[in-house]
Amino acid sequence: MQVIHTPISNLSSVDFDNLEFGKVFTDYMMVSDYNGEEWSDFDIQPLQSLSMHPATSVLHYGQAIFEGLKAYKNETNDVNIFRLKDNIKRMNASAHRMMMPQLDEGKTKEAIMQYVAEQKAWIPNRSQGSLYVRPFMISTDNTLRAVASQTYRFIVIACPVGFYYDTPLSIFLEKEHRRAAKGGVGYAKAAGNYAASFYPSVKAKNLGFDQVLWTDITNNFALEELGSANFFYVKNGNIHTPKMHDSILKGITRDTVINLAKDAGITVTSELITADDFEKDLAAGEVECMFATGTAAAITYVNAITIGENKYEVNSNQYGPVLRLKEQLDAAKFLDSDKHPEWNVIV
Ligand code: PLP
Ligand code: COI
Repeated sequence: MQVIHTPISNLSSVDFDNLEFGKVFTDYMMVSDYNGEEWSDFDIQPLQSLSMHPATSVLHYGQAIFEGLKAYKNETNDVNIFRLKDNIKRMNASAHRMMMPQLDEGKTKEAIMQYVAEQKAWIPNRSQGSLYVRPFMISTDNTLRAVASQTYRFIVIACPVGFYYDTPLSIFLEKEHRRAAKGGVGYAKAAGNYAASFYPSVKAKNLGFDQVLWTDITNNFALEELGSANFFYVKNGNIHTPKMHDSILKGITRDTVINLAKDAGITVTSELITADDFEKDLAAGEVECMFATGTAAAITYVNAITIGENKYEVNSNQYGPVLRLKEQLDAAKFLDSDKHPEWNVIV
């Protein structure tokens, strides 16, 4: 690993109390190139623009995948890169589906630890937020042939971030457009999945909704997930969430919350939930809480959902057991709890 230091730091210009998500970047990026056979050593270098040939494969055929994870700094300045190993594993699963090369899990983990350790001063304190770490991989062959690239670049950048959603969401159950299809790449964190989601999301925003709840429009509108978070609701004290399949991103926060709920003695059911069944529960007043989980979103309450012409409101943000889960999620990330040491990577 080579580290090229920058003589100029932007750190002193950052207002850590007012961080807009994804707008402020640390001074460094980490880079490794794949030459068709192997990855080069990771280099940490000053954050800089990329220069590309106009025929670079990713610009045309979209072999691009990414991850999102966070480093948290607690009151005693311990830094925890939460669930780093799981994010690297998921990146490799995405790479596999998108015909991109595998990363060495151990070396990538060590390299990201060093990258974060170099930039500890950039990590907001607990009341301000966290450091969002964005690894991504792009195809780099210069060719217009529509084939999988031979060469790739892996880059890690990072942003100090505040809190993504600070008010409960009002969402819209989508029955016309689909985010991802069965047999497709929905479970991969592929850039194109997000591009495909923007048109319906903007349509919903223009109607006053914060987010779309995607459904499987070929299968009785079975619930799937939100644009960048997994979906949960509570009925009769039990948590329900759509069962994983290949059109849903396997959220790592989803897995964390399921484990924390089980630790708390709450029953969690992953199942196929049709829009009709869900609407019946809403209409009967049986839904006690709705929420979404994600690295950026943490646990975000959903206080309203519109299905067709009907709007259902739920006081999700007043539901005690999920308020406590939110505290337990925070405790896990900030090392207040020693229940799941396998989730922590301390630097
Ligand atoms: N679903 C989508 C489409 C996402 O982009 C994300 C965010 O990463 C999630 C779910 C939540 O996943 P995680 O909890 O791993 O961040
Ligand atoms: C995350 O939660 O990590 C995400 O990737 C959300 C992002 C698409 C803004």
